[in-house]
Amino acid sequence: MVEKTSSTVEKPIKAAVNYLNFYYGGKVHALKDINLPIAEKQVTALIGPSGCGKTTLLRCFNRMHDLYPGNRYRGEINLAPDGINLLSNKVDPIEVRMRISMVFQRPNPFPKSIYENVAYGLRVRGEKKRRVIDEKVEKALRGAALWDEVKDRLRDLASNLSGGQQQRLCIARALATEPEIVLFDEPTSALDPIATSSIEELIAQLKQTVTILIVTHNMQQAARVSDYTAFMYLGELVEFDRTEAIFNYPANQKTADYVGGLFG
Ligand SMILES: Nc1ncnc2c1ncn2[C@@H]1O[C@H](COP(=O)(O)OP(=O)(O)OP(=O)(O)O)[C@@H](O)[C@H]1O
Ligand SMILES: [Mg+2]
Repeated sequence: MVEKTSSTVEKPIKAAVNYLNFYYGGKVHALKDINLPIAEKQVTALIGPSGCGKTTLLRCFNRMHDLYPGNRYRGEINLAPDGINLLSNKVDPIEVRMRISMVFQRPNPFPKSIYENVAYGLRVRGEKKRRVIDEKVEKALRGAALWDEVKDRLRDLASNLSGGQQQRLCIARALATEPEIVLFDEPTSALDPIATSSIEELIAQLKQTVTILIVTHNMQQAARVSDYTAFMYLGELVEFDRTEAIFNYPANQKTADYVGGLFG
């Protein structure tokens, strides 16, 4: 097995996954000794065939698995700059989710107005000042490249937006609390090609301010949007490198077969 480590990454490291193992319900050993550096303000793509553990790994980053009893983590995900292990029992998962937010495969806005969808996380955080919430909602909607399309209809229901707009709204919601890392799990798989390319452009812009981790089945998408790529297979990390290396001269035969379209 080839595993490149932090030496592959020239940028500062925002998070370091160290010997991470994950078990569903104490039985399914879904992640096996994963070691992976996440470069700050870069896009890291997770690729691999269905069932290899991409979503499982992504969800460790915001402690989503805590919501179901019996799930177990072993190992660490250390977060810079404070060096906390975000999987530690001493770390509050709610706090983690403020720092690391997630955008899902299907747009899932709350059954509320456009404005309230974005304001939600700010209110949960205890922000009460109307002026501050207004400012942050606008900033997040601008950050998600949606402001111009919705600024005159902020009180409309989010469900009235198109699929691509709803996904950008979910991105605005994820950005509102100014997270350090945003996780994307196949964010364009439910979208048409035009909406897909607008989300890809947005991801390219977002990395100026946040660190991004994205799961994608689409090889072209991984090649277009990411700086680093991790190839996973059967719960293991097979190869991690700069994206151009993974796609042009992978070190491992399994990686070559997968990116070459031979399986998956
Ligand atoms: N809630 C669960 N309980 C038990 N096993 C699970 C659960 N969720 C996922 N698994 C198993 O964990 C492994 C990894 O699943 P995961 O969803 O992370 O794969 P994936 O790489 O995201 O696949 P896909 O590309 O199909 O989304 C699979 O074997 C899957 O069956
Ligand atoms: Mg998945």
